[in-house]
Amino acid sequence: MSLPQEARKRARTLRAEIERHNRLYYLEDNPEITDAEYDRLFGELQALEAKYPELQSEESPTQRVGGAPAKELAPVRHALPMLSIRSETGTEDSAAAKFDARIRRELGLTAEDPPLEYAAELKFDGLAISLRYERGSLALAATRGDGEVGEDVTRNVRTVRGIPLKLRGKAPELLEARGEIYMTREDFNRLNERQRAAEDKTFVNPRNAAAGSVRQLDPKVTAKRPLSFSAYGVGATRGWQPPRRQSELLERLESFGLPVDARRAVVHGAEGLIEYHARIGARRDALPFDIDGVVYKVNSLALQERLGFVAREPRWALAHKYPPQEELTEVTGIDVQVGRTGTLTPVARLRPVFVGGVTVTNATLHNEDELRRKDVWVGDSVVVRRAGDVIPEVVGVRKKGPRRPSDRFEMPQRCPECGSPVVRVPGEAATRCTGGLYCKAQRKQTLLHFAARRAMDIEGLGEKLVDQLVEQGLVRSPADLYRLDAATLAGLERMGEKSAQNLVGSIGRSRHAQLHRFIFALGIPGVGEEVAKILARNFGSLEALLEADWARAAADKEAVRKDNAQRKRRGEPLLEVALEGIGPELMDSIEKFLREPHNRKVIASLVDPAHGVSLAAPKAPRRAATQAKTFVLTGTLAHMTRDEARAAIEAKGHKVAGSVSKQTHFVVAGEDAGSKLDEARRLGVPVLDERGLLELLKEL
Ligand code: IVH
Repeated sequence: MSLPQEARKRARTLRAEIERHNRLYYLEDNPEITDAEYDRLFGELQALEAKYPELQSEESPTQRVGGAPAKELAPVRHALPMLSIRSETGTEDSAAAKFDARIRRELGLTAEDPPLEYAAELKFDGLAISLRYERGSLALAATRGDGEVGEDVTRNVRTVRGIPLKLRGKAPELLEARGEIYMTREDFNRLNERQRAAEDKTFVNPRNAAAGSVRQLDPKVTAKRPLSFSAYGVGATRGWQPPRRQSELLERLESFGLPVDARRAVVHGAEGLIEYHARIGARRDALPFDIDGVVYKVNSLALQERLGFVAREPRWALAHKYPPQEELTEVTGIDVQVGRTGTLTPVARLRPVFVGGVTVTNATLHNEDELRRKDVWVGDSVVVRRAGDVIPEVVGVRKKGPRRPSDRFEMPQRCPECGSPVVRVPGEAATRCTGGLYCKAQRKQTLLHFAARRAMDIEGLGEKLVDQLVEQGLVRSPADLYRLDAATLAGLERMGEKSAQNLVGSIGRSRHAQLHRFIFALGIPGVGEEVAKILARNFGSLEALLEADWARAAADKEAVRKDNAQRKRRGEPLLEVALEGIGPELMDSIEKFLREPHNRKVIASLVDPAHGVSLAAPKAPRRAATQAKTFVLTGTLAHMTRDEARAAIEAKGHKVAGSVSKQTHFVVAGEDAGSKLDEARRLGVPVLDERGLLELLKEL
């Protein structure tokens, strides 16, 4: 078939549009269209390219799904070597002060000269990469390797959505952008959750996950990994007006559409460096990704040139590291903890050690198999890792202790909490207590999980309280929480009238919950936040989830997979796989949990319209529509007037209507809400409270 001019033009438009939406989504966090609309554009382009093979191009966003696997990664010699920087660890300010003093000395400056200007940046903990753009097109991506020769990972890097395949604006003839490929902690946790759900291998830390994903032979695997990129410099360049400062260089890279971290700063003198190091250090745990320090660079590129290099390191830069998130310590004992599903988790008791800013005394060993694989004994020297808010874990044994047979861990035969026999389910890594709800440890953990911030977010329901509630038989299942009153609570130890009232208040607020949070809160074995979101998205309501035909779902999934294999051969757009990322064992676990009569009873009681939870529709997808939503306000809100609420809604481009209909997207109900609330319930319109409204407006 000859190629009509029309098709070529349309393909060009579609590519530009898709890349623009990629940019809005991945770089600016400000999507303009829904996932479905994006998929439609993408599908149209795929179909065009399948029909007219002449249209196919490496630069097309359709190629971001990855091609055939390679046999090996070819070596590439860097046009300019990829250098490393000198690094200093030390929490004191002296590293920054010494660096500044040394630079001033080298430049022949005296105390009378003004403070020097520095570019201060985060030191990403990922994998260094060089991206070669020729006339604005990504031509080559290479890892650092030994600094002289790296590996060609172009096909893998093309699948990273945040990396532009074409630079924006008037690009130089040649530009090698250098930076770091990394994985956010959330993406890392999600990836590991997904790997576990699909019964695949998990990763030790985000850096290993990022490096492993880039140094892959199969680009299709890389395409499925959530990788991010941040640029911090350049290699070879040609055909541009060279910038004069590091800070300008980064602005320039940003203007070409390359991601550059916004937490960078231009600071002055040693004082500025010290302040930056402290400021970022204080926020380190709250950052969405791991960093191992900050980097100081003399801002003027002319001065950088004057300063030059010592050996293979520039004199003008310093990496000022933070205390590591991995540390060496000794195992003083191994205990067993009972989780909410009765899982027995071996926990290493440690000689206290300062890791990632806190003192760690316990670390998880996950399960018996992991413990055996790592071969951890009491008395061993081990590496402990702690990053972000994840539970510290033993990464591996560094040195075996003097081992006696009694130092070897043995899984107990009976539950340490309730004395029931334990079982190891064949094919599963977990050892479980068979006590079920008889086991108070399980009941307590179930409640704590239900109330957790990322689940139903019941503030104030902590361990001490849960202990009492369970021990005194006041609460047996999460549903009982919604029947507690302030008087009962006030009678408990360490509970005043005020805190009892506060708790009743936060239990009340949790009555309006998003479906995915509720599903997560149920504590179905294997269902973390990510899987809960998949379930909420796929089923749309609790009823549909409860009625799911799992055998059928598994069969459908298999059928779509087969269909897709053929479509791929024919070059046709692929069908969406329902419940993607949920493997057969996990489906089995979900089905078993939901079939269990006791669980169904608890769920029914939880959503009992008289005093239970009311569920909001699944959260809009991240690539959310910016289409206007219609709200109806009813009752008295606690912290704002009706007019203020209306203003907040309208400020985001949404509408407020006077009466509830099928067209209403949300009803916001306060105290003494009347018939409008009833009408919303009748029509199945999601009902929000004030907090729910504010959260939703943030998302929309
Ligand atoms: S500058 C000549 N800036 O840290 C200077 N490096 O030894 C070249 N890194 O593996 C590097 N964040 O990949 C620079 N903001 C940043 C960085 C950074 C992370 C990595 C880099 C290299 C190592 C430096």
